[in-house]
Amino acid sequence: MGQKITSIKPSKNLRDKSILSFNQFDQSTLKEIFSLAMKMKAIATKAQTSKILTGKIIILLFYEPSTRTLSSFDAAVKQLGGQTIVINNPSELSSIAKGETFEDTIKTLEAYCDAIILRHSKEGFSEKAGAVASSVPIINAGDGIGEHPTQALLDLFTIWDHKKRLENLRGLVVGDLLNGRTVHSLLQGLSLYKNNEVYLLAPKDLRIKRKLIEKLTKNGLALFEINSLSQAPDNCDFWYWTRIQRERFTDLSKYKVLKNKFIVTKKLLDKFGDEKTLLMHPLPRTGEVDKDLDKDIRSVYLKDQIRNGMYIRMALLALILT
Ligand code: NCD
Repeated sequence: MGQKITSIKPSKNLRDKSILSFNQFDQSTLKEIFSLAMKMKAIATKAQTSKILTGKIIILLFYEPSTRTLSSFDAAVKQLGGQTIVINNPSELSSIAKGETFEDTIKTLEAYCDAIILRHSKEGFSEKAGAVASSVPIINAGDGIGEHPTQALLDLFTIWDHKKRLENLRGLVVGDLLNGRTVHSLLQGLSLYKNNEVYLLAPKDLRIKRKLIEKLTKNGLALFEINSLSQAPDNCDFWYWTRIQRERFTDLSKYKVLKNKFIVTKKLLDKFGDEKTLLMHPLPRTGEVDKDLDKDIRSVYLKDQIRNGMYIRMALLALILT
């Protein structure tokens, strides 16, 4: 065991704060989170130790399925000595099933914990929880088709770790850009830095909302909507692939038509990308990333992105709760 971390510098920007949208971050807050995430990596790999969340109880309230976000938050709390209460599927397994309101649920749970991490199927419900909770921070772990700010933190951290910068980047973002909340937060993050440009490729009915494009463009992010991969430049720093979000479709036959519209293969990455293009995906993938790419040195979806998710969440919780 190496050095023991017993305290961190209190954060002006994050202490006791809820995390509801990516729009509340700025460059200096991201720098603070990323540099602590580097230290958290050392703790998670046991080069150092820290129990700075000892005595804290975090509730994970997940109305929608999750593998990575749930487990990495849970692991993050435990890595730092805290404890969790996991409430999965509250619509069936909590008093919500008896007719209790969302508001009363939040009011009740906040009495038992130091923070609530919330995943909900409806956009805006993190804000709603934030308005109801009076004593604990709320962390948005995905609100319907709205946002997923902590995923964007780990995505940006991964890009930064590989490229050593978050400006002058050229990226390609592909898939369900209408419903994919990770993309909505990621693009807001990229808009905080100078000279970033992103090419957007989506099926016609799943394009990103005009209003978000306008907001991002106003913030200085250059966005280009394209209709095929051949229109993307060949020197992208990253490709960010996403799945078509089946759970957002009322007509499943329409989903089936769009599901395999854009599939990334090694051949495509070799042809339209270059040897330094990072291949990213928030996961889960449902057929849109060829397995041949898993061992490709450019692929970070099953490696760095997953691990960075835990380091980033450790850092964020430490900055909010200590
Ligand atoms: C994403 C989500 O839930 O929005 N998953 C995740 O948290 N890594 C992406 C997705 O479900 O497609």
